[in-house]
Amino acid sequence: MNNTILNLPNTDSKRKLTEQLIQTAREIKMLPDVAAKAIAIADDPNASTQAFANIIAQDPRLTRDILSLSNSPLFPRAPGVKPISCLKMAINRLGSRQTKQMILVSCYSSMLNQMDLEEVHVREILARHSFLTGVISTKLNKLFKLGIQGEEFTAGLLHDVGRILLATAAPKEFKLLDTMDFTERHDVIKEEIEFIGTSHAEVGEWFLLRNHLPEELVSVARHHHNPAASGKFKRFVALISVADDLANYYQRQELEKEYDCTNLASLRLLETLGVENSIARLGEAWPKILSESVESSGQLSRL
Ligand SMILES: [Fe+2]
Ligand SMILES: [Fe+2]
Repeated sequence: MNNTILNLPNTDSKRKLTEQLIQTAREIKMLPDVAAKAIAIADDPNASTQAFANIIAQDPRLTRDILSLSNSPLFPRAPGVKPISCLKMAINRLGSRQTKQMILVSCYSSMLNQMDLEEVHVREILARHSFLTGVISTKLNKLFKLGIQGEEFTAGLLHDVGRILLATAAPKEFKLLDTMDFTERHDVIKEEIEFIGTSHAEVGEWFLLRNHLPEELVSVARHHHNPAASGKFKRFVALISVADDLANYYQRQELEKEYDCTNLASLRLLETLGVENSIARLGEAWPKILSESVESSGQLSRL
């Protein structure tokens, strides 16, 4: 492991954690070969839809997931429009950019299922959090009219991938470190670094880089607890950070308390970046966004 990325001090316990993380990351490949080839074709402006479909079709699970996702609440159909029934139709309707995102979603779901988590409920709670943050991100993108085209869902889905890695690689430390109570408005990153010498943000960044994922997704994994530090992706990371906060509110199960976003740093950052009245707009829209997202993400996580 490159210690310049995962900045672990050189003590015995930290060395052991590094080894466990490397071992886990070796066993888990986020992008199988077919998916990696399909993503390369999606990024090639000269590639044909047929070539794209031919590659995806080599992987039955990927094909099945793309068809399911195309007909899911992520892509609401206008009245009278038929469900998508074949891969080429899915690519034509979604476009290669959205299809690429759906490939990443499918790979992430299958990665979650491959992970040898000792406790099933840890996987379920973290998967729930991933899908909920992903769906809320799509709603916030529309609310704030940011014009992001599908990448926000994937970024919401992957933002806490470091937590999943830590829970798999070092379950004992994870249990002490992360109580999964979603009370995160304090400095969780600082606490994690004090306790284990690294954080789920650093581990997530390291894992996504190792798997050659796009830089905006890497930046979200690294900076979602401090979007102001995310350089050219500030707006994007701030959006995911707001979605994360609303998902945390829901998962704290304190719904008798009103959600309060007035002092949320990532929302204030969005305002300074030109998203006018974002605090007032979210203050009004959050109940509808949350109830719709809870329903859609529940359906998606069962795909
Ligand atoms: Fe996080
Ligand atoms: Fe999170």
